[in-house]
Amino acid sequence: MFCPRANAKNVNLQGECPAVTIAIIDMLEKKRAEARAGGGQKRIQGQHAKGKLTARERLEVLLDEGSFEEWDMFVEHRCADFGMAEQKVAGDGVVTGHGTINGRPVFVFSQDFTVFGGSLSEAHAEKICKVMDQAMKVGAPVIGLNDSGGARIQEGVASLGGYAEVFQRNVMASGVVPQLSLVMGPCAGGAVYSPAMTDFIMMVKDSSYMFVTGPDVVKTVTHEVVTAEELGGAVTHTAKSGVADLAFDDDVESLLQARRLFDFLPLSNREQPPVRPTADPADRPELSLDTLVPANPNKPYDMKELILKVVDEGDFFEVQPDYAKNIIIGFGRMQGSTVGFVANQPMVLAGCLDIDSSRKAARFVRFCDAFNIPIVTFVDVPGFLPGTAQEYGGIIKHGAKLLFAYAEATVPKVTVITRKAYGGAYDVMASKHLRGDANYAWPSAEIAVMGPKGAVEIIFRQDMGDADKIAARTEEYREKFANPFVAASRGYVDDVIMPHNTRKRVCRALALLRTKQLQNPWKKHDNLPL
Ligand code: HXC
Repeated sequence: MFCPRANAKNVNLQGECPAVTIAIIDMLEKKRAEARAGGGQKRIQGQHAKGKLTARERLEVLLDEGSFEEWDMFVEHRCADFGMAEQKVAGDGVVTGHGTINGRPVFVFSQDFTVFGGSLSEAHAEKICKVMDQAMKVGAPVIGLNDSGGARIQEGVASLGGYAEVFQRNVMASGVVPQLSLVMGPCAGGAVYSPAMTDFIMMVKDSSYMFVTGPDVVKTVTHEVVTAEELGGAVTHTAKSGVADLAFDDDVESLLQARRLFDFLPLSNREQPPVRPTADPADRPELSLDTLVPANPNKPYDMKELILKVVDEGDFFEVQPDYAKNIIIGFGRMQGSTVGFVANQPMVLAGCLDIDSSRKAARFVRFCDAFNIPIVTFVDVPGFLPGTAQEYGGIIKHGAKLLFAYAEATVPKVTVITRKAYGGAYDVMASKHLRGDANYAWPSAEIAVMGPKGAVEIIFRQDMGDADKIAARTEEYREKFANPFVAASRGYVDDVIMPHNTRKRVCRALALLRTKQLQNPWKKHDNLPL
């Protein structure tokens, strides 16, 4: 008999296909079609009407064409209460599996809002846990696309248990494989804690939100009236709370940017960051940098310009661009290899360190260190932001986070002081004392306990009535410290470099440091000032 499904695997050697196999193949196709249909055409249309893609459409954009291999397509929930025994949808509201992004492997789960609102059942959680466990064994990142009404209400505690199983794996995977979350719909209640424990969160404007308690509960408890968007939308979390890293206009843009971020990251902590061939010469001079820092020490300039001019082909992926803008963090490449950049931004709060910027940069430094990504730090910092708001908010503990992160980091650390490096902030920003490997200063660098004016007002308080004397003392202090040479004479700065040579010198340092070996003493774990 000629088998009509000649490409089917079950065809026997004579090219014949037993009737029973045909029946199974038919059933397979039917089941696949059912699973792909999710919650049905009406709900898919509803999803599209909200400007959202379906779970499967999202994976098509995220992954290389034809690379997705789906797992557990036929998994169903096991709940029999509240009429659920009659309502089963293959896949149970989450599409899981693995694929590639620009040829590199990645594990994925994508919650399907058209099936029980993407809510998490015990079986749904098991599917997510399976890809996470395998990602850990293989050493490949996990990307989760979240679009869910939270715990499957009909399942009660079984669903809560499922969440906790996912949380446990988020923690175990932290620092082992990169974890990315794309919040592309509702994410509320305890469900928020899974993305919160991943490395990066991207949100979609106007169609996603994250909150621990929704607007109705807020109204009942605190009498505040607030919309879901105001309470936990993409703008709220990327600009106010700092919970999310990036916000994009729609699903497609978010997914494409996730691909871009993925390309910078190593697959696991067992690997070095990926290297991409570049035509950008390592010794490319950038003459315009010689005039970047204004003559007036109080005049700001855009530190982002320095990063863009130094990095390979001007390609910089900024993380948290709308939060704590007084510090810039993000990924770029130097001679093709991924580098994490941290830079004070003189355009905002004069580049001061405060609570938010310390937390933002500390988490980034720790991510880089966990995943073998060298850190390049550009310093122009007048100190910590003064004031009651900062002190009452715990700047002491939060500032210590950044100090701690830099001090424990064993990856290559290259630092360039462009202008001010004052006080404790000088120490914090990857100074030589915190095991900086290559510490450079531009000729415009000023490394001191504080600015000349403040210093003179304290140590020559008795002369404050005499303007000439104060002016002379200020000038004396400026001459002594408003340059990099005192620090250089002690070896705190390895060299004073010309700004136009910054790319060349940083590339050279990073090339040398590729074989760097440094280990911290054994400990169960540290006690980061949380
Ligand atoms: C089961 C759910 C569900 C849930 C939604 N659905 N959430 N089914 N469990 N948690 C179903 C709906 O019954 C509906 O089914 C479909 O999904 C779409 O829901 P709609 O309400 O029609 O959609 P929409 O108007 O867009 O509203 C979305 C929503 C709302 C805001 C998410 O559904 C909602 O408030 N859901 C409940 C959210 C919630 O309280 N979850 C528990 C939170 S506590 P049909 O068949 O009509 O399509 C929690 C704890 C986690 O999550 C703890 C972890 C430690």
